[in-house]
Amino acid sequence: MVFLSVLCASAVREENFNLRRKVLTMTKRVTVPDIVAAKGKRKLTEMTAYDYPTALWVDQSGIDMILVGDSLAMVVLGHEDTLSITMDEMIHHTRAVARTARRAMVIGDMPFLSYQVSVEEAVANAGRFIKEARAQAIKLEGGKRVVPQIKAIVEAQIPVQGHLGLTPQSSAAFGGFKVQGKTAEAAKELIEDAQALTEAGCFSIVLEGIPSAIAAMVTEAIPIPTIGIGAGPDCDGQVLVIHDLLGLFERFTPKFVKQYAKLAGPVRDALASFREEVEKGTFPGPEHGFAIDEGEVQKLKVGSKKKHSK
Ligand code: KIV
Repeated sequence: MVFLSVLCASAVREENFNLRRKVLTMTKRVTVPDIVAAKGKRKLTEMTAYDYPTALWVDQSGIDMILVGDSLAMVVLGHEDTLSITMDEMIHHTRAVARTARRAMVIGDMPFLSYQVSVEEAVANAGRFIKEARAQAIKLEGGKRVVPQIKAIVEAQIPVQGHLGLTPQSSAAFGGFKVQGKTAEAAKELIEDAQALTEAGCFSIVLEGIPSAIAAMVTEAIPIPTIGIGAGPDCDGQVLVIHDLLGLFERFTPKFVKQYAKLAGPVRDALASFREEVEKGTFPGPEHGFAIDEGEVQKLKVGSKKKHSK
């Protein structure tokens, strides 16, 4: 009886999942006006993805925005920080994500020095994310000092997501990965930066690594959505790095991350089982092989006997 009800529950779960998947694939893509209109009405969700499988999982889960973050440098390419990733590497991965996602808005993250040098370079590089990679928007880090770049990119009809607070591309200038906006003066500057990015035309702003009370004040002060990461519950939405959420990145786990799964262990176990079974000769089994008519094998054997007897 218990077994039957477990079976039924799992069948219902699967049916619900398939239905949700069907609805999602029929749904139109999330747009910039959808994101802006969500402020104050519903919480927004954003998640990083870097390739076909991660983009597919995120898209199918109904998350609003997929960020092809420059965290790619650390969680996929094994760099120490995000500074050395190139435009070409970002475009390569954004392309894979954009060709996969059907519903979520795809946002390409502008890497270090792709927008700081000049306004012209910033527009050209932002344009590559749209034209070559087919993303729907870009994200870049910084406050007032990047307003000219944001204005020019928006003028080129490319939607921009801002990024304030603990911006990893400034970690050297900050003296490490340190929570920002911890004094009244720094918090005031953050609010002014958020207002400047809003006036420059950003459609949303990521707030990373700032006190929850300050994130709440920034959220209150601007008409566009704030998307928090280590910025408390009062932001208009939340973003995480998918490798952190799934427990796939083990070098360190920031305090603000919630691991919804711990996949690295099961992956290692699966790989160890493969190695053991190959070494013992139990994989591949007969069910993993391809058959041939015994008659054909016999013909081969006869043929090879004749050759040897000559
Ligand atoms: O690169 C990234 O993944 C990011 C998020 C942490 C917001 O910028």
